[in-house]
Amino acid sequence: MTCIANPLWNPWANDKALLELYQKRCRQLVPEMTCASQAAEILSSKINGNETLLDAGCGAGYYFWSFYNRKIPIEYFGIDYTPEMIELAKQEMCNSKSKLKSTNFILNTIENIEEEYDTIICFNVLTNNPHYALPLERLLKCTKKRLLLRESLDQDLVVRFTPDHYIDKDKTHIKVYHNTFPIDEVEKFIKEYGFKVTRILDERSKGNIEMVVDVPHRWQILLAERI
Ligand SMILES: C[S@@+](CC[C@H](N)C(=O)[O-])C[C@H]1O[C@@H](n2cnc3c(N)ncnc32)[C@H](O)[C@@H]1O
Repeated sequence: MTCIANPLWNPWANDKALLELYQKRCRQLVPEMTCASQAAEILSSKINGNETLLDAGCGAGYYFWSFYNRKIPIEYFGIDYTPEMIELAKQEMCNSKSKLKSTNFILNTIENIEEEYDTIICFNVLTNNPHYALPLERLLKCTKKRLLLRESLDQDLVVRFTPDHYIDKDKTHIKVYHNTFPIDEVEKFIKEYGFKVTRILDERSKGNIEMVVDVPHRWQILLAERI
């Protein structure tokens, strides 16, 4: 079953400037994102043989380069519910250097993942979803070894559903979730699925509040490893 995000409410289907930035990331024309670099560094000591890795909410799939450039032996897959993102990934990321094929990029929601992967990473995604529980449960059930998450996590739950003034001018009425989820609750939730959890300081924001499209986020990285 395939589910895609409806462009009526999906900011990523209505943001040409962001697509241009993502294209540059695919072409490695802009500096590597600090969080992508940190994800690859964390996983480099964990991944031994050839393992599968799913990038959940992959955008245009440019995190691939962070693993490739560090020679981390993974078979990379990306999933995203925005058709424009998966199209861009297929156009930009599938070539003789990456050896990625269009089948490495899956158009679907996280909530529909059924395959299992050795590692799943999910960075900067759940915060933009109405709640974390359903997509996170799917991610945990489909993780064989480890799940690496970077989300806006703090002491208390804050639900924000606000217009995004940075997307295409005629689409700024579209409202987007920018939620902060309670870190203790999220950690307890993950442990219930048979994982141990390690909190890792986010290198980019260093534990401080970071404003993203005028909304405060406290980015935290959680490494969940199956016991
Ligand atoms: C803020 S972007 C982050 C992209 C990339 N992970 C990064 O850190 O640069 C969020 C991405 O997640 C996708 N996304 C959000 N919720 C999703 C869901 N429930 N299922 C699949 N994709 C989702 C969006 O389409 C978008 O491409």
